[in-house]
Amino acid sequence: MSIITELESLRDSALERISQAADLAALDAVRVDVLGKKGSLTGVLRGLGALSAEERPAVGKVSNEVRAALEQALEERKALLAEAALSARVAADAVDVTLPGRKRLPGRAHLINQITAEVVDIFTGLGYAIAEGPEAELDYYNFTALNHPPTHPARSATDTFYVRDLSEGGASGPITDVLLRTHTSPVQVRVLEQQKPPVYVLAPGRVYRRDIADPSHLPQFHQIEGLVVDEGITFGDLKGTLDYVCKELFGKDRKTRFRPHFFPFTEPSAEVDVSCGICAGSGCRFCKYTGWQEILGCGMVDPNVFGYVDIDPEVYTGFAFGMGVERIAALRYDIPDLRMLVEGDMRFLRQF
Ligand code: DAH
Repeated sequence: MSIITELESLRDSALERISQAADLAALDAVRVDVLGKKGSLTGVLRGLGALSAEERPAVGKVSNEVRAALEQALEERKALLAEAALSARVAADAVDVTLPGRKRLPGRAHLINQITAEVVDIFTGLGYAIAEGPEAELDYYNFTALNHPPTHPARSATDTFYVRDLSEGGASGPITDVLLRTHTSPVQVRVLEQQKPPVYVLAPGRVYRRDIADPSHLPQFHQIEGLVVDEGITFGDLKGTLDYVCKELFGKDRKTRFRPHFFPFTEPSAEVDVSCGICAGSGCRFCKYTGWQEILGCGMVDPNVFGYVDIDPEVYTGFAFGMGVERIAALRYDIPDLRMLVEGDMRFLRQF
């Protein structure tokens, strides 16, 4: 085979490989194979020195043409592949601007906090101040100063969460005089220790009881305590105040009733019920088939409580009340199970 034919076949096969190169790396491999230092065309050209002076110009011309043709083909293919690589990347990175955006739902207060704020609003409108006390409370404030005898059943470790002294016997160490408050009533004592009458305070807060969660109980829930101490306060003031508040909270179509009851720290005491909104008073599981839902306890402050805080019961009288916020929520919105309030299901909570 003449050297010219050899050059031509080398060119044809190289052009074929160039046109087949699938990407820039493959194309560069072809370039190195043909035009590189140890490439096939380079090898052929090295043999030119052995040619006669007559042959050399013709072969030299063809070999220059072959080299130029291959360089041009490489250049063109390179541009094509670079363009394709760019288009592929643009396609991969493309953003579909016609897709609907992600909906961002604005945050809001939990129903329990909404109702608490509403009750706070009603009472601050009546001139009450807001008071707070600790959730980890002393036995003294939670029970003793609220006139609970040492044997009162609420003091039992099956009803109340007590803090144990772990330094003595670990998890079964002795209970201490610290507990998780079972009601917001201890705030009454703390306020009366700090402040002389007239006292008009509202104390919202979290409370704890060793109850198993069920449709009408939670081991942690919220109460709002009220306390009024002044000269000449009567049970009529208590009834008038709570009548007004119940109308504000539940509307005119819900009925309320005062039922005599007993609390160690009030005398006389009463419970206030609101007609059940789930069964409209005919009886259902939630109201234990009574047609009524208890929402608060109340009464006239027991003179024994005044004794603990050094207030003269001959001069001052007072009333107090404590309401369950979860119960108010359930009554207002016909929530059949209090656990729904703490399960965090946004489909439920967003309704409010
Ligand atoms: N502390 C009571 C409870 O948790 C509720 C209560 C009843 C509060 C009577 C009061 C009250 O202030 O006077 O069940």
